[in-house]
Amino acid sequence: EKGGHDYFMLKEIAEQPQAIADTLLGRLSDRGEIVLDEVRLTDQDLRDVDKIFIVACGTSYHAGMVAKYAIEHWVRIPCEVELASEFRYRDPILDRSTLVVAISQSGESMDTLMALRHAKEQKARVLAICNTNGSTIPRESDAVLYTHGGPEVAVASTKAFLTQLVACYLIGLHLAQIRGVMYADEVAAVVEKLQQTPDSLRTLLGRMEEVRELARDLKTASTVLFIGRHVGFPVALEGALKLKELAYMHAEGFAAGELKHGPIALIDEGTPVVCVVPSPAGRGVMRDKVVSNIQEVRARGARTIVIAEEGDEDVRAYADHLIPVPATPTLLAPLMTTVPLQVLACEIAAARGHDVDQPRNLAKSVTVE
Ligand code: M6R
Repeated sequence: EKGGHDYFMLKEIAEQPQAIADTLLGRLSDRGEIVLDEVRLTDQDLRDVDKIFIVACGTSYHAGMVAKYAIEHWVRIPCEVELASEFRYRDPILDRSTLVVAISQSGESMDTLMALRHAKEQKARVLAICNTNGSTIPRESDAVLYTHGGPEVAVASTKAFLTQLVACYLIGLHLAQIRGVMYADEVAAVVEKLQQTPDSLRTLLGRMEEVRELARDLKTASTVLFIGRHVGFPVALEGALKLKELAYMHAEGFAAGELKHGPIALIDEGTPVVCVVPSPAGRGVMRDKVVSNIQEVRARGARTIVIAEEGDEDVRAYADHLIPVPATPTLLAPLMTTVPLQVLACEIAAARGHDVDQPRNLAKSVTVE
């Protein structure tokens, strides 16, 4: 049942190219329009939206953080991301023209469900992104976009995360198109890039041997830090979360620019720092900033593990370990950069002798608040 893999998690990591392809399947109409699933909202309802809130927990929250960058860039509507467990307690300002996007793999997370109920009471429209057909969250939402990741058994979310990203991209593109911010051919160009990601990911997954070796090396580290900027920031948070939940190690993700405001004091001789480097194409400035952050931590003794686009040879000089990933447009890059971090956490946990699929104290769906 694990398809020849030692753990469900490894099987699910390997299934990611297919999961992305399945989530994209049939989404583009002949007219180049994005087709969503059960959308019980009219195009006019979606045109009237003037603010978006994304609510979710854990890994799904990290998908929401990535979505904010994509949605604001493409749709030009303010988009906030909030932990579902915090959302309703601060009395958010919601009305008919607010779209609340609830992201949940299981569709049963109580925190997310309560956030969506609160949003509905305030007359906001709710759109769910969910991997589980007929679960509570999509049932209670005005619209649903299902991720076609297939069942996820391991407690640690992997393929659900990547398919949530795809769903968020599709929603962003759909909104941009019906609101006239992007033309059909512009949308189709992004979809084409999305359609190339399963192949790129297969290539990347074929090169994980070095990450496995690195995992054996890092298994005794007392802390692992992760840094990133822009969409690399949620990827850093996701890498740290995976390591905490599976390897029971101290790990933290930071926005690379925040380092100098405090966390850099944590860096000591040999502290492993995983650095997610943006693509040099398009937003070169951001990439250069991350490269200076890498130099800063290295100057203080950090051991740097650098995830960078292949061909970005200049970063090699600052990397104790370089993990190249296939070139992907900036906003879509988390579909690549997250994957080595999943493998790293899984292999470190295994090397430490933990039950990778069933980490202590955790449940696959968290049905209490
Ligand atoms: O089913 P959900 O997406 O609502 O679950 C949210 C979190 O509980 C979940 O992502 C959790 O953080 C994972 N175990 C992380 O790997």
